[in-house]
Amino acid sequence: VTTGTKPSLTIRLCQPRGFCAGVDRAIQIVVLAIKKYGTPVYVRHEIVHNRYVVEGLQKLGAVFIEELNEIPDENQHCPVVFSAHGVPKSVPADAKARNLFYLDATCPLVSKVHKQAIRHHRHGRHVLLIGHAGHPEVIGTMGQLPDGAVTLIETEDDVRSFQPQDGLELGFVTQTTLSVEDTAHILEALQERFPAMQAPAAESICYATTNRQEAVKETAPGADLYLVVGAPNSSNSRRLVEVAERAGARMSLLVQRASEIPWDDIGDISILGLSAGASAPEIIVDEIIEAFKQRFEVTVDLAITATETEDFPVMRALRDVELTKA
Ligand code: F3S
Repeated sequence: VTTGTKPSLTIRLCQPRGFCAGVDRAIQIVVLAIKKYGTPVYVRHEIVHNRYVVEGLQKLGAVFIEELNEIPDENQHCPVVFSAHGVPKSVPADAKARNLFYLDATCPLVSKVHKQAIRHHRHGRHVLLIGHAGHPEVIGTMGQLPDGAVTLIETEDDVRSFQPQDGLELGFVTQTTLSVEDTAHILEALQERFPAMQAPAAESICYATTNRQEAVKETAPGADLYLVVGAPNSSNSRRLVEVAERAGARMSLLVQRASEIPWDDIGDISILGLSAGASAPEIIVDEIIEAFKQRFEVTVDLAITATETEDFPVMRALRDVELTKA
């Protein structure tokens, strides 16, 4: 009866959005490990940066820890899963020293960056890592090499202030979830200062990051509001909010659940852009569309900018469980 009175709203829904192959694999690893080995299964760090996912896995019997020493001796036989972001070399080494059984859910594309950093080092190059300080992926990549072998570059200012040791060759890698645009600027500045700096054999920013940013860039111009589903500690989700703003959305926000939508601040809108970071489950996108449907006469306009076929298989030890999946 009330539908006629609702204002109309077009939702530009990005495709691709949400889960990437690395996140999907990491979640599967935890679920399959619980199925195969029973509970508890320990998970070092949030497996992916999403509360909803973490709570869902906790309900199944996953126990989240920050460091391996939180695993009590009597549970040493229980598996411990390392998160999709990757870990410093010291973590599997500690696990081995304690005789723990670990499953490494590091995204294969993060492992590839690790290998590139190691390769630079083997060639005698000092490694410049473009990324955000404190992010677990950065900690993991820096931890592939001895202390002092990697310098973190966060900004163009860092490029200017970096003082390489005389005669030392340089090579760079980047975090997988950076802003494509900002990274290009930082790289330009680096290449200008250090023309001989060596690139990694393959691009470090991953396909999922690139595709999600591209989709947002295309759908943001003219949007009255842009919502990105994701957590505040999710690097790739935060970059999507920035991309939306730069590409012309009037307002752009990160939300974890529909309950976080600031209805009072939104004002009159007729076009909403909607995407989700690589760690955000689709069910929350649905929840948000439903919340708008309560208040608006909604038309969903699917904006397909790329098709993704990436699918990363879980490790051999868990494949037999997968086969018996219902
Ligand atoms: Fe991997 Fe990229 Fe996702 S590095 S975990 S595919 S965001």
